[in-house]
Amino acid sequence: MINYRCILNKQFFKWCSILSTIITLLTTFYIYTYPSVYPAHCSWHNGTQDEIEVNVNELDHISRAAYYTKRYLKDVYKHNFFGVAPTRGEDNNDPKDIHMLAFGDPQIKGIWPNTGYYSRLDIYANDHYLGHIVSVMEQRLKPSHVVVLGDLFSSQWIGDSEFYNRSSRYLRRLFHRDTTWLKDLREQEHDDNGLYKIDWMKWGQALNRKCEAEKPWDLNFGYSDVHSWDPEKENYLFINVTGNHDIGYSGDTTYQHLSRYNQIFGKDNYWIEYDRDTDHPWRIVVLNSLLLEGPALQPEFLDVTWEFLTQLAERNFEGNTILLTHVPFYKEEGLCNDGPNFEYYPEDYPTEPYKSKLLRSQNHLSEQVTNEVLNLVFYNKKPGIILTGHDHEGCRTIYNKNFDDDTWTASHEATSDLAIQEITVRAMMGQFNGNTGLLTGHFNNDQENWEFDFKLCPFIVQHVWWATKIFLFVTISLWSITFFM
Ligand SMILES: *[C@@H]1O[C@H](CO)[C@@H](O)[C@H](O)[C@H]1NC(C)=O
Ligand SMILES: *[C@@H]1O[C@H](CO)[C@@H](O)[C@H](O)[C@H]1NC(C)=O
Repeated sequence: MINYRCILNKQFFKWCSILSTIITLLTTFYIYTYPSVYPAHCSWHNGTQDEIEVNVNELDHISRAAYYTKRYLKDVYKHNFFGVAPTRGEDNNDPKDIHMLAFGDPQIKGIWPNTGYYSRLDIYANDHYLGHIVSVMEQRLKPSHVVVLGDLFSSQWIGDSEFYNRSSRYLRRLFHRDTTWLKDLREQEHDDNGLYKIDWMKWGQALNRKCEAEKPWDLNFGYSDVHSWDPEKENYLFINVTGNHDIGYSGDTTYQHLSRYNQIFGKDNYWIEYDRDTDHPWRIVVLNSLLLEGPALQPEFLDVTWEFLTQLAERNFEGNTILLTHVPFYKEEGLCNDGPNFEYYPEDYPTEPYKSKLLRSQNHLSEQVTNEVLNLVFYNKKPGIILTGHDHEGCRTIYNKNFDDDTWTASHEATSDLAIQEITVRAMMGQFNGNTGLLTGHFNNDQENWEFDFKLCPFIVQHVWWATKIFLFVTISLWSITFFM
């Protein structure tokens, strides 16, 4: 009798193990190949018409499921056996396409002494969920540029050590980068307990010295033809953009905020010109949109950003522009999820009296600042594109220039000879389905302009990713039990 029960149990565990193995294999296969579910959205734009979509509404449920399954598997096969489709311009003398991955608002959270175990696990898993998206997309698409459009972290109210710890997590877990240099940095810049601490006074004095001189200030805003910051380790360019959670809104931003961002993530305003002296020049402009208007805590920071824009316009650059910034440009209510909104600290603000009446938050840049910035960045009247973050829902609008009074109006349609598309990239956070933006730039020889195409490739809520890991654990446990029974 006992024997019989034991055999029954063993059989039962065995079947459970097999079932669990199948689920684990299927879900794991899915999370590593998820872009193939939406092959058109998750591939660079390559000019050939994307495969003609069958009108699925005419199909019954079974045929529809069969159609999607076939499309999915075909794309998995294509990407794993043929590798990435060759870049246009790779096999002839045409300029190579620009392949930029764009991520919106990862906003990783911090761990504090009173953070519970469940939240700690959640934060750990979330870092790896975001890192999974980055590595799947990088492997599939071999980008030339990777940009995060600000709000790397979830809060501007953190100390230097937490800023450092989060930077380290962000770079290691999300972007799989070598962080030895961060450890070396801490050796140089730390407090008595060995925790990272920025010497913002030194940084601030150096900045102020430069800004006391005659304009143009010598602030080294420009680069040219940079394809990687570290060509030995990586073959794409990693671009950081400031978000309000990284340095604060202008009413919050201190020397401490800006200096530590500068030390770890580099400049907040710069341009990179590519192929300047050819017939196909283009450039990337990274703009710190948080320090354009106030009232600011340190108004001198605004002067630096405006000086940057002035120097940018004085470059007399002939090519097309990709503008990367965090806060979207002014638009009327109803065009995107976020309408115009400005908030200011109250006049009477006992917690931090020095912030009285300063800018506390903004959904967009103001109308006036929008006009001024767009006139300076797109002054050469060449087409371009703007990528922003901030509004987690994501959005597409077009800024049409009115040449009579040099103003720009947001709309869903292009109505002017100079119409610049603004893409607000939907957040990569799990609750927005882990999106990646794909920006393809292609040089059109006939038009003598770069043309830009943007697509959004979604993953799935973080719980599905979680579930695959849990199933893996369950499967291993079940097989161990079966084995030792
Ligand atoms: C940052 O990490 C270090 C080392 O793990 C730790 O000792 C320190 O307390 C952390 N800082 C904060 C603010 O939690
Ligand atoms: C962006 O941040 C990474 C990681 O800290 C750094 O390696 C890179 O140089 C930064 N970019 C710039 C332009 O400084």
